[in-house]
Amino acid sequence: MQAPPSPRNRSLRLSAEDRARLSPALEAALELGSGSGAIALPGPGPAAPGAEAGPGSGLVIAGDCLAVLPRLAPASVDLLVADPPYNLDKAFGSRSGSRMSDEDYEEYTASWLEACLPLLKPGASVYACCDWRGGAAMQRALGRRLVLRNRITWEREKGRAAARNWKGAHEDIWFATVSGEYRFDAAAVRLRRRVRAPYRDGAGGPKDWGDGPDGKLRDTAASNLWTDLVVPFWSMPENTSHPTQKPEKLLAKLLLASSRPGDLVLDPFLGSGTTAVVAKKLGRRFVGIEADPEHCLAALRRLELAEADRRIQGYEEGLFWERNSGPRRSR
Ligand SMILES: C[S@@+](CC[C@H](N)C(=O)[O-])C[C@H]1O[C@@H](n2cnc3c(N)ncnc32)[C@H](O)[C@@H]1O
Repeated sequence: MQAPPSPRNRSLRLSAEDRARLSPALEAALELGSGSGAIALPGPGPAAPGAEAGPGSGLVIAGDCLAVLPRLAPASVDLLVADPPYNLDKAFGSRSGSRMSDEDYEEYTASWLEACLPLLKPGASVYACCDWRGGAAMQRALGRRLVLRNRITWEREKGRAAARNWKGAHEDIWFATVSGEYRFDAAAVRLRRRVRAPYRDGAGGPKDWGDGPDGKLRDTAASNLWTDLVVPFWSMPENTSHPTQKPEKLLAKLLLASSRPGDLVLDPFLGSGTTAVVAKKLGRRFVGIEADPEHCLAALRRLELAEADRRIQGYEEGLFWERNSGPRRSR
């Protein structure tokens, strides 16, 4: 018999009641995903982050994004966040796949990207996640169609051990835009970190840092190397059984830097719903497409929970905090 989960395990688990309550929403998501007509996009979102998101603020669609994307309105999306299956031998719930050649992975990347491009506004930004192996194919596919701006590398705290290779401990996110006119709010994604070398100015006061109840801290511009993320695990309430779930904090950085409240965010590979949940918490509209109904259910449940709890672990008081830190009162 399986041991009962530890009381400290805060992972999302769907009860029979949750499943029954969410079943109409899942039916609606499946119906949207299997239809053939145009899909009406969610209406204007709330005016400010944290404001109550109306029922029109987001759509979860259960289906194949390649079939669904052509049914969305052209030039409607402000931000595309794509976290497609990496080119691995891997199972995603009921779906599984084996590693393709680099050429085939590039072709696969081009197929969903081509379906997304007509949906993007001229000022839209695009983020696409990958590992080191798929990075080159992703770079080529994006670079041929968009303006490449940067590659973010983020440290996966718990790399996968390897007997005859370096442990993989990072992933990448390519950043691209449709044009030269795009939004980037650097001030919204500053990182608060502990000061290791507390230099002083001529008058003996702190230079570029502050000394308060939380210690000596400095707010720094976000770079393209992120070491402050924690991959969701069992003691985090955002954790689900999805095998490749992204941290909410990661999505919060992308959305805050590259969208405004009320903007429309598209995620064609929604998984457990992280993009939708963060969009909701930050007052953005969203459309998320996910092929696996079980992952859609997790997304729907997380969206339900986000109605009452808008917190994003690691993002407090309008700032991102270095890993495992935060204001004293919340620790
Ligand atoms: C890397 S995961 C995304 C994880 C997600 N970012 C999260 O935080 O949970 C990729 C997801 O894409 C889904 N998927 C794969 N092919 C798809 C397709 N053609 N259309 C829609 N979803 C698809 C998989 O079921 C999987 O959940």
